[in-house]
Amino acid sequence: MNLLKINSISKKFGVLQALNEVNISIKKNTFHGLIGPNGSGKSTLLKTIAGAHYADSGEIIFKNSNITNNSPELRSQKGLNLKFQITAILPQLTVYDNLLLALQTNHSIWELISSKSKYLYYEKIIEVLENFKLIKKVDTLAGELSHGLQQWLEIAMVVVKKPELLLLDEPTAGMSPQERQVTGELLVPLKSYCSLIIVEHDLDFIKDICDYITVLDQGKVLETGSIEKIRTSKKVQEVYTTRV
Ligand SMILES: Nc1ncnc2c1ncn2[C@@H]1O[C@H](COP(=O)(O)OP(=O)(O)OP(=O)(O)O)[C@@H](O)[C@H]1O
Ligand SMILES: [Mg+2]
Repeated sequence: MNLLKINSISKKFGVLQALNEVNISIKKNTFHGLIGPNGSGKSTLLKTIAGAHYADSGEIIFKNSNITNNSPELRSQKGLNLKFQITAILPQLTVYDNLLLALQTNHSIWELISSKSKYLYYEKIIEVLENFKLIKKVDTLAGELSHGLQQWLEIAMVVVKKPELLLLDEPTAGMSPQERQVTGELLVPLKSYCSLIIVEHDLDFIKDICDYITVLDQGKVLETGSIEKIRTSKKVQEVYTTRV
């Protein structure tokens, strides 16, 4: 069964056609890599799925319900969560409080860190910190973490919500090869309850963890299918040799 179905989504910024009638289907418990040259529309597509942008036309069906006009908050409540390309942790708060904030986005920061609700999600938070190798940093200020650990914290802030569809935009940007490999190992277990759409420039990383790949080029789907199909696609080779 399809978890997500994107039907002919288009999005313009002024005269620039960032997405041009994009169709994608995502099955339950599958990992999907989204690749393409710079400016091909990858981040715009993830933001449109998450509701950070609204499509000009087309529709987005999630778990058989039309979410095209739903707010980002409602999409998140329904189990669809995005980690943006740009880091969004709060550096002055501890690792624990960043996760708490991620779980209680409707409360103000002051309410959160002063109230009893601090321990409301204790077990959930500790579990995700253990899974993401951050447990020893629970009381560290997020701004004092290394870049790699900040990226893991940010992924943990999305994963703690137990999404059914997780959208990650370049989660390994700026990481060392070893951190990158560990990131893959951290993500793989999520497949038991979640599907993933991940944007990455590192094709080896994508090949290691993804079941399917979609290639975007100039806002259009150039090719979609298994790793093998994409690896041997003449169209993809042409774009990657002439434009990347
Ligand atoms: N908010 C915006 N306003 C105007 N133009 C935008 C906006 N966001 C994206 N664009 C433009 O839309 C096109 C697609 O951008 P997008 O960020 O989706 O590409 P991308 O595939 O994620 O690129 P990269 O690999 O560099 O991250 C680009 O030409 C970009 O300049
Ligand atoms: Mg991008």
